[in-house]
Amino acid sequence: MILRVNRLLVFALFLALSAILNPAQAQPAAPAANADLAEHDAGQLINGYKPAWWKEAVVYQIYPRSFQDSNGDGIGDLNGITTHLDYLQKLGVNVIWLSPHYDSPNADNGYDIRDYRKVMTEFGTMDDFDRMLAGIKARRMRLIIDLVVNHTSDEHHWFAESRSSKDNPYRDYYIWRDGRPNPDNPSHPLPPNNYPSFFSGPAWQYDPATKQFYLHLFAVKQPDLNWDNPKVRQDVFSLMRFWLDKGVDGFRMDVIPLISKQPGLPDLTADQLANPSRLWANGPHRDEYLQQMNREVLSKYDVMTVGEAIGIELTEETNIVNSERHELNMVFNFDAVRLNRGAGYTERKWTLPDLKAIYDNHARVLGKMDWDTVFLSNHDNPRLVSNYGDTSTPEFRVRSAKLIETMLLTLRGTPFLYQGDELGMTNYPFTRLDQFNDIEVKNAYQERVLGGKMTEAQFIAESQRFGRDNSRTPMQWTSAPNAGFTTADAKPWLAVNPNYTSINVAAELTDPESVYHYTRRAIALRHAHLAFVYGDYKDLDPTHPHVFAYSRTLTEPGKPTLRFLVVLNFSKEAIDYTLPEGIKAGKLLLANVASTAEADESTLHLAAWEARVYSY
Ligand code: NOJ
Repeated sequence: MILRVNRLLVFALFLALSAILNPAQAQPAAPAANADLAEHDAGQLINGYKPAWWKEAVVYQIYPRSFQDSNGDGIGDLNGITTHLDYLQKLGVNVIWLSPHYDSPNADNGYDIRDYRKVMTEFGTMDDFDRMLAGIKARRMRLIIDLVVNHTSDEHHWFAESRSSKDNPYRDYYIWRDGRPNPDNPSHPLPPNNYPSFFSGPAWQYDPATKQFYLHLFAVKQPDLNWDNPKVRQDVFSLMRFWLDKGVDGFRMDVIPLISKQPGLPDLTADQLANPSRLWANGPHRDEYLQQMNREVLSKYDVMTVGEAIGIELTEETNIVNSERHELNMVFNFDAVRLNRGAGYTERKWTLPDLKAIYDNHARVLGKMDWDTVFLSNHDNPRLVSNYGDTSTPEFRVRSAKLIETMLLTLRGTPFLYQGDELGMTNYPFTRLDQFNDIEVKNAYQERVLGGKMTEAQFIAESQRFGRDNSRTPMQWTSAPNAGFTTADAKPWLAVNPNYTSINVAAELTDPESVYHYTRRAIALRHAHLAFVYGDYKDLDPTHPHVFAYSRTLTEPGKPTLRFLVVLNFSKEAIDYTLPEGIKAGKLLLANVASTAEADESTLHLAAWEARVYSY
C-alpha cells in the first residue's frame, strides 16, 4: 500500500515537473477538432468516401518571413511562429502549411534551397524548429512543410559540384546542354531551345566554366533538377524521410508536375509558347516518379500531400489524386484563384456564374476516390478580399471578407486559408518599383518596362493589382509601430500595410463582430458537421448573376439526411432572393449580417455581401 502511494506521489511530481519544464505540453488538451468526426469508424466509408484526417482538416498557410519576428532583425522566424500557436489553435485550424524554412540565399524567398537539412539562419535553428513542431503537436495540430524539389538553389552543393566539370559525378543531377550556334556572334552561343522562364527571359543560363547551358524554369539561381537520374530521386526521397522522421505530417509540393521534362527538349511551338506549363507539366514520367515517391516514402507514413498543379487541367487531375493510383492526396488547381487574371498581371473579366461553373465542374469531375482543395489566396496571389471581395468601404471589406470565408469553409474539398485572411487583410498601396521585393516583379520590370513593352505607370498599376508582395507584407498583430510584427525600431524586410492601425489581430480579438471571430465561427461550423466534408455538393442556381446558392447533403444508411444551405450575395446591392422551387431556408447557423428572421422561408432579403448558412 505504502509502495503504491509512493509511486503515485512520484508520478504526480513527474507530471508537475514536466509541466514546468515543458509548458507547451502542459496545455489542456484541445477538444477534438471535429467533434462528431472523431467518433466515426475510420474503416467505414462516409457517403462513399474513405475518411481521412487530411480531408477533415482546415489548413492555415504561414509565410514565415512575414508572420512574426522574435529577434528584432525585421524578418519573421520560427520562434515567432511558436509564440502564436495558441492564437492558431483558438482560430480552430488544425494543419499548418509552412512555406520554405530551409537554408537559402533567398533569390525567391526560400523557394531556392541551398541545404534541405538545415533551417534558414534568419528563421532560427533546428532546435527552434523542433520546439515549434512540439508546440504544434501539443495543441493537437499538424504541420506540413513545403517540398521544393523541381529545382534547388545554384548554391546547393549538388549544383556547385555539377557545374565544376562535365565529368563530375553530380553533372547529371541538373540539365546541361550545348548551346546552338550563333551566326551573328560565334563566341556567344544561343540557348539550346526557346523555353522561356517563368520569371522572364530565357530558361537557360550559359555557364562559362564548362561552356554549356543549364535549364532553370524559374530564376537563374534556381537550376532544375534532372529527375530522370535515379540518384536525384533517391536523394530527394532521403531528405523527405529526414523531415518525416522528425514528425512532420506531410508536404505541399512546389510545382511538382514539372519534374518530368520533355524527351529531347525540342523547341516549343507557337501554340505551346502561349502556355508552356501545359506541356511542361505533362512529361512522360511524372506519374511514374510520383508513384515511386509514394511507394518508397509516402506510403510508409500517415501523411497529407498536396501538389501545386501548375499546368494541369481539371480533367487530368485524377491522374494524380485518384487514391488507387498512389500518387498525391490532392492538388491546388489555379482555375478559381486565377479566374480574374489574363496573361501576366492583366485583368480578365469574370462573372459569378463563371466561378460557380468551376466549383460545379470540380464536383462533377472529381469522384469518390479523388480529393480536392479549396483556396483563393496564398503567397503567390493578391489578398483575398482585394481580389474577390469589396474594399470600397470598411463595412463592405469586412462583410465581403466574411462572405468569402463562408464560401471557402463550406465548399467541397480541404480548405486552405492564408495568414491574415482571417483579419480581412488587404493589398498594399504600392506606388513605386522600389517598394517591391519580389523577383517576379523585378525581372518583369526589366523585360516589360525597360524592354519598351509598357510604361512604368502601367506596370506599377498591374503589379499593385496582382503582384505577389501584396500577400507577403507582414502580419498585422497590433496597432503598435510595425504592427507588432517586429520591434518598433526595426525595418521590416517588406513594408507593413499602412492600414495596420485599424486592421490587426489585437483589435479584432476584442470585437466580437470582427472578420477574425467570424472566421473562427465558420471554421467551428465546418468542424462540427460531417456534411461540409463528405457531403454532396449541388449548385442550386448556376445562372443567377449575383447570388451563389448551394447545398451540402450527407446521407448515411440508418441516419437522418443532413442538409445544409449556403446563400451568398456576391454584390453590393441588396437582393430579395427567392430560393429554387421546393427549398425553404431552415435553421440559421451562421450569418455575416445581423439578420432578422424571414417571415417567408422561400424568399430571403439579403443585404449587400450577405452570407448565410442554414440547416434545412
Ligand atoms: C511556386 C511557389 O509557390 C512560388 O512562390 C515560387 O516562386 C515558384 N513555385 C518557384 O519555386
